[in-house]
Amino acid sequence: MKIYGGKTYEQMSEKAASVIAAQVIENPRSVLGLATGSTPIGLYGFLAKWYEEKYLSFKECKTVNLDEYCGIGPDHDQSYAYFMRENLFSKIDILPENTNIPNGLNPDAAAECARYDKVIEDLGYADVQLLGLGNNGHIGFNEPAPAFVPGVNHVKLTDSTINANARFFASREEVPKSAYTMGIKGIMNAKKVLLVANGTGKAEILEKALFGPVTPEVPASVLQLHRDVVVCADEAALSVIAKKHPDAVEWFR
Ligand code: GLP
Repeated sequence: MKIYGGKTYEQMSEKAASVIAAQVIENPRSVLGLATGSTPIGLYGFLAKWYEEKYLSFKECKTVNLDEYCGIGPDHDQSYAYFMRENLFSKIDILPENTNIPNGLNPDAAAECARYDKVIEDLGYADVQLLGLGNNGHIGFNEPAPAFVPGVNHVKLTDSTINANARFFASREEVPKSAYTMGIKGIMNAKKVLLVANGTGKAEILEKALFGPVTPEVPASVLQLHRDVVVCADEAALSVIAKKHPDAVEWFR
């Protein structure tokens, strides 16, 4: 595992974007595993900028998103489909037919999970899977649980996640109560994992995930078992790790 630390959100976003850019340059037909949340917005900005400046093209890339809320459609401004269009897809030359995201409007959970599992498998898994980190250690929407769930699953969101995500909705009541998420199998089969985190609010959980026991109660801890993980974080998110494991971080500030 490599842990890169930047002083600011801007710096960590640029570093994380460069990991994805390197992948696209190495293989223009890459499968990019993408994530939502506030953390990756900065890195998507860099990818869009580099596309604009003609350093990058996504024309032959395929994408596979981690998750989607249930019960809201792609036109809802809090759906992850909408988020991806707003923050990345509309700003680069990716072909819409090459993008994949669970269908939050499919009421048949078993069918949607099976469909999306097949999408991920048919793509041959991501070349690089981007991940944010939930306040409770979730990755995608894999919430703390008694066991790791391998396949795409229909997950009931925890109160902690509903509270954390309520800031994006008009009220807490409007936050969907469940979601479809790629499971641990899809994430662990990615050839490379890129974990991003910023802000002091993530400092404790980031340390727990990367250095604590591997347990489904901290879903991100499973990444300790992945062969190629790159972490890009800012100084605030790394504050606990920098104290407890000072040699673990490669600072690029
Ligand atoms: C959401 C998403 C996750 C994301 C997490 C953290 O619940 N499902 O994929 O990583 O929240 O979000 P943020 O980056 O806003 O802290």
